[in-house]
Amino acid sequence: MYEKFYGFTERPFNTTPDSKFFFPSAKHTEALNSMLYAINERRGFVVITGEIGAGKTTVCRTLLNKLNVNTRVALITNSHLTQRELLAVVLEELEIEYKGGSKQKLLSSLNEYLIQQLSYDNNVVLIIDEAQNLTPKVLEEVRMLSNLETEKEKLIQIVLMGQPQLKSKLENPKLEQFKQRIVVYHHIAPLTKEETEQYVRHRLAIANPQTQDTFTPSALEAIYKYSRGIPRLINILCDSALLSGYVFEMRQINVDVIHEVAKERDFHYKPLDIQIPDSI
Ligand SMILES: Nc1ncnc2c1ncn2[C@@H]1O[C@H](COP(=O)(O)OP(=O)(O)O)[C@@H](O)[C@H]1O
Ligand SMILES: [Mg+2]
Repeated sequence: MYEKFYGFTERPFNTTPDSKFFFPSAKHTEALNSMLYAINERRGFVVITGEIGAGKTTVCRTLLNKLNVNTRVALITNSHLTQRELLAVVLEELEIEYKGGSKQKLLSSLNEYLIQQLSYDNNVVLIIDEAQNLTPKVLEEVRMLSNLETEKEKLIQIVLMGQPQLKSKLENPKLEQFKQRIVVYHHIAPLTKEETEQYVRHRLAIANPQTQDTFTPSALEAIYKYSRGIPRLINILCDSALLSGYVFEMRQINVDVIHEVAKERDFHYKPLDIQIPDSI
């Protein structure tokens, strides 16, 4: 709608995890690299956490583009599953033929496939997004999958991504063995103020390389304070602000527009730096 007015090829702040717009912040890059390392080195288990909208799914999409061609991926995004359903979905994702049967049968079909893939020098990865929804029983099943190994290496690499509750779920004493298996744990924290500004500029530049200072410095500062550095919230604010700016034919978005759209969308202003007077 406002794309033409600002000379954008597309809307720069869509809320879909599009890897074209990937901003390699230190946090996202570190999470991505640790996942790549654990997968390529066949190290086994990775856990990534982050608040809603922190960029977990985006990092995952970027990861999929960076994996070697000899990597087979089972990506599970529906995490409300029973133990048997989990195995069935993994088999389906990997296009392994199986006929009904017990959990044990499914597991042995998977094992057979994994050994075959190893002989082709292929690597197999299971990625579960929104893993905070997995029940302790299903988590235990996931751990069993990580037991599939040869003397030297893991037959399947496992990545669990989820909201911070995932970490507290793994603290359950019953899952002690599970915890011991994690080789990489990474939390994607929100962006800092500087990173938030760079993030906004990065996305604007992809939609229009000629773009300059679409947001004033104080508008950028307000975006940071309302969003607390959460990319999803930054996108919502910026998209609404651009729409509002277009309606009022403003080439540059100022802080008033940000306050206005934040109010409309019920964002709460959380002052992050409390001003302390020099003298009282
Ligand atoms: N590093 C990043 N670069 C570009 N966009 C990002 C980044 N991280 C998050 N986003 C954007 O923020 C929004 C929410 O990200 P998403 O990956 O869905 O978060 P999560 O899966 O953690 O809830 C998406 O629109 C995505 O495009
Ligand atoms: Mg997600």
